[in-house]
Amino acid sequence: MPARIIDGNALSAKLRGELATKAAALTAQGTQPCLAVILVGGDPASAVYVRNKVAGCEKAGIKSLKFEYPQDAAPADVLGKIAELNADPSVHGILVQLPLPKHFDEKAVLEAIKVEKDVDGFHAENVGRLSQGQEAFIPCTPNGVMEMLKSIEAPLRGAEAVVIGRSNIVGKPMAMLLTAAGATVTVCHSGTRDLNFHTRRADILVAAIGKPKFVTGDMVKPGAIVIDVGINRLQDGPDAGKLCGDVDFDSAKEVAGAITPVPGGVGPMTITMLLVNTVVSAERALAKSRG
Ligand code: GUN
Repeated sequence: MPARIIDGNALSAKLRGELATKAAALTAQGTQPCLAVILVGGDPASAVYVRNKVAGCEKAGIKSLKFEYPQDAAPADVLGKIAELNADPSVHGILVQLPLPKHFDEKAVLEAIKVEKDVDGFHAENVGRLSQGQEAFIPCTPNGVMEMLKSIEAPLRGAEAVVIGRSNIVGKPMAMLLTAAGATVTVCHSGTRDLNFHTRRADILVAAIGKPKFVTGDMVKPGAIVIDVGINRLQDGPDAGKLCGDVDFDSAKEVAGAITPVPGGVGPMTITMLLVNTVVSAERALAKSRG
């Protein structure tokens, strides 16, 4: 039996509807949630992500500010803008789109963002808080994956979860969240010996490697939940230019119990969770201003 499809667009639409109501209530109280987005350089994929984030804000009644810098921008200029946004009480979230050009110290830029406005959850303090189970902004992609798992009532406690990829943006926080939810987590990466051994025993398999159609049906345990975090643009062949994930959807869906598609899976959920974090930040700011 082919897998159940976990529809990220449908789940996003439901969550974004709830968010719009919250944003409107905040706006009525004089605090319109506001996200500032910084984009450095001309990476076309980053430009598309930023455009989608800004459009998502607009639809949900969240104000967005966009600051664009050229590829050869001085890091001091970007750090100056972050300082300005940190100090502006009308801004509730600050996001610097990654990757940054090579002459930037990415860590220093992320650390410059005020922890309370770090809606991407990339600041070391938020990462540390998440690892200790303290209240934190959770990185949007893995947080979106957790919402998708919740939406299908995936049994997480005691489940074998395998995450392929160990990035700071997805793999590491994903492993922390699944561990906190009671799963037994294995993190695989390019140095993993016998990857298939691990993937074939996963009840929950998260692919975040950045390699098109890398996970094939023969790597999937029958009935497993397969989450595809990849967004790759096919370079050649008849489907050149089309988006595809890190999972070979056609073969994996015949084996899995549930699977996320690309597009229309994790992608829209990433943006939804960014909007959630921005509204939460605005709610906290309003509560704080009222003492
Ligand atoms: N680049 C790829 N994914 C992300 C993300 O979630 N946030 C930011 N800021 N940059 C990214």
